[in-house]
Amino acid sequence: MARVTARDRIAVIAHRGASEDAPEHSLAAYRRAIEDGADGLECDVRLTADGHLVCVHDRRVNRTSNGRGAVSALELAELAELDFAAGRPPGGGRDGGEAPDTVDPERSAVLTLERLLELVASAERPVDLAIETKHPTRWAGQVEERLLALLARRPVPGEVRVMSFSARSLHRVRRAAPELPTVFLMHFALPRHRGGRLPAGVAVAGPSVRMLRRDPGYVARARAAGHSVHVWTVDRPEDVELCAELGVDAIITNRPRTVREQLAQL
Ligand code: G3P
Ligand code: CA
Repeated sequence: MARVTARDRIAVIAHRGASEDAPEHSLAAYRRAIEDGADGLECDVRLTADGHLVCVHDRRVNRTSNGRGAVSALELAELAELDFAAGRPPGGGRDGGEAPDTVDPERSAVLTLERLLELVASAERPVDLAIETKHPTRWAGQVEERLLALLARRPVPGEVRVMSFSARSLHRVRRAAPELPTVFLMHFALPRHRGGRLPAGVAVAGPSVRMLRRDPGYVARARAAGHSVHVWTVDRPEDVELCAELGVDAIITNRPRTVREQLAQL
């Protein structure tokens, strides 16, 4: 199986953009990640009630905006009314950026995947995209269908990978677009019901860094089986060090600049 993300150094992928410095999934966070030298950008995608793919992590908008309700129950125009700079990062508190005096739409507006693809296409260097389908089974394939149609309409120069915790979602992607590398995400371990193996055809193993702390030998086993290894979400210096020691292929982090600087020192 072909290796993806083949670089002579560990790739740094910005998780929800440079989300330590700007609101997660905002255009500002992605611009910042590109400026900070990220090799790739991670984003979560969900479908709005009127069928647009938007970059939002949670099922509901309550944490990340000043609004309420499920993304799937809101239309894009309704999401566009909300302030996504008013939200909180996963750990609580406001994002680490400075509080702006004026509203900056690049920080506050909901981001469509189409707009993110435009940003990536206009970057001065190729930037990879790691797109995560969130709870896609609810939509019976519509997320993957619309995602693949959009990618065909708006090609980008870097490598595009589709990630998911759902084997079914990745299967749908591989069936419709076998050329797209897929990443199987894991919280704690390989699923037992799969006999400890990744779903067939998946190119990349996506363990959490917690999983690697408990089972560092997993990286060598995955690579011996022909898989690249992309680890999330790696923010602590000791975890960056662990990933470097284990020789992973990519680190997914909220702080791409800091991680890139640390890797350069190791
Ligand atoms: O990059 C994978 C990682 O993003 C999965 O977890 O909850 O941050 O989407 P989550
Ligand atoms: Ca994600």
